[in-house]
Amino acid sequence: MSASLINMAYIGATVLFVLALSGLSNEESARRGNLYGMLGMGLALLVTIFGVVEDNFNMMLIGLVVGGGIGWILAKRIAMTQMPELVAILHSLVGLAAVLVGYATFADHDFVFSGVEKTIHDVEVYIGILIGALTFSGSVIAFLKLSAKISGKPLMLPARHWLNLGLLVLAIVFGKLFIEQSAAGGGLEPLIWMTVVALIFGVHMVMAIGGADMPVVISMLNSYSGWAAAATGFMLSNDLLIVVGALVGSSGAILSYIMCRAMNRKFLAVIAGGFGGGSTKSSENAVDAGEQGEAVSVEAEEVAQMLIDSKEVMILPGYGMAVAQAQHSVYELTKRLKDKGVCVRFGIHPVAGRMPGHMNVLLAEAKVPYDIVYEMDEINEDFPDVDVSIVIGANDIVNPSALDDPDSPIAGMPVLEPWKGTTTIVLKRSMAVGYAGVDNPLFYKENTRMLFGDAKATVDAVVAALT
Ligand code: TAP
Repeated sequence: MSASLINMAYIGATVLFVLALSGLSNEESARRGNLYGMLGMGLALLVTIFGVVEDNFNMMLIGLVVGGGIGWILAKRIAMTQMPELVAILHSLVGLAAVLVGYATFADHDFVFSGVEKTIHDVEVYIGILIGALTFSGSVIAFLKLSAKISGKPLMLPARHWLNLGLLVLAIVFGKLFIEQSAAGGGLEPLIWMTVVALIFGVHMVMAIGGADMPVVISMLNSYSGWAAAATGFMLSNDLLIVVGALVGSSGAILSYIMCRAMNRKFLAVIAGGFGGGSTKSSENAVDAGEQGEAVSVEAEEVAQMLIDSKEVMILPGYGMAVAQAQHSVYELTKRLKDKGVCVRFGIHPVAGRMPGHMNVLLAEAKVPYDIVYEMDEINEDFPDVDVSIVIGANDIVNPSALDDPDSPIAGMPVLEPWKGTTTIVLKRSMAVGYAGVDNPLFYKENTRMLFGDAKATVDAVVAALT
């Protein structure tokens, strides 16, 4: 395949990836965005296999079959609720690939450079392995935390900032040694030491980040995996990999920024860690909450009657709706209420669920019309006019202590404010805390009623009781 044909195909794939990203920014165009992404990846693979690769076809074929097979099986098996941990472990593979490619290019004597070119190539290898290694270990820890295989609480080592600084200084020192030794034909030793340092840094960075900040960690690791891919592109002199890596890296960085804004957090404070692990103060609040009054439970029939008597209903879904797979029942409830002339809207918190857009995806799957689904900022002012808010499997995103308790581990995070409406019905199985491990005074408010049970079962019961 001629070089210009390969370049043209690479430009085509890049355009498709850009269209994919812009399509994915909106529910209505997301399906199309996915299609563009698949076409772009298909084109990139075909051109690379038939136009760029020159030998070792058998090994590549084995890699394609094994990698593709694992991807296929995972995609079939993984439940929607396990998506975040799947994404985290996939990021770790991108990081690992960057490390392996880095070592392979370092050891490959076909790359004969000298002078400045050699130094540039060495810097590419060094940075590629550095980003790859910390993405790998950080993503593995994120996977373990998200799948609850290890505790989600932040690990607060004494002098942890000094430890981070020390690791950074070590990475710079080993970098200098590597460039010097590589020029003389060596360099493997400092490269290995830097890899160890980067692996420790990745582990420590994510271990220090608490439960409630995990959304930012996922998008940040997404960004790192993009930069790791871009670094691999530099090492392999593959323009497409550089461009695609940069697209993923920058979109992940923008997403991290958006998430930080949504949670009223500073990016550097998230990376420094320590947030979201709960505190003694929060358990004291649990007692306070108990002293505020008892949580009052209701039955599905009473809820149905309240809904029939309402004009304005707001549905606030959270992670529990995903666990219960209640989205189709929720759509049925919406349809029934609309048929009865009740205005139903949905309020979506930016970090509801366990991944960006989690609730939007579920509601779109259940065919809830997009024009009744609102972002938190669009509807938070409207709660005083709402007759009934139904909180479905949500907890942290409707926690008033984020606004009025400066000692709460989620203090400062903007939340949906259903308590400002006439009545709030909370659908969950127990009084258990949510992801951030924080007690929720909303459950004890005078105008709150608890409808206990699995969200699908309780929504179905309410639908059945709507006469
Ligand atoms: P959470 O605060 O985690 O609360 C979910 C609630 O759902 C739980 O309190 C649980 O109570 C209930 N629940 C679970 N299964 C249920 C079922 N089958 N039926 C009914 N209820 C069920 O969720 P949220 O309000 O959506 O907030 C999201 C949290 O996750 C935030 O802290 C956010 O920072 C964090 N997070 C978000 C992301 C992204 S990107 N969205 C990623 C990682 C972490 P019971 O056990 O009593 O039923």
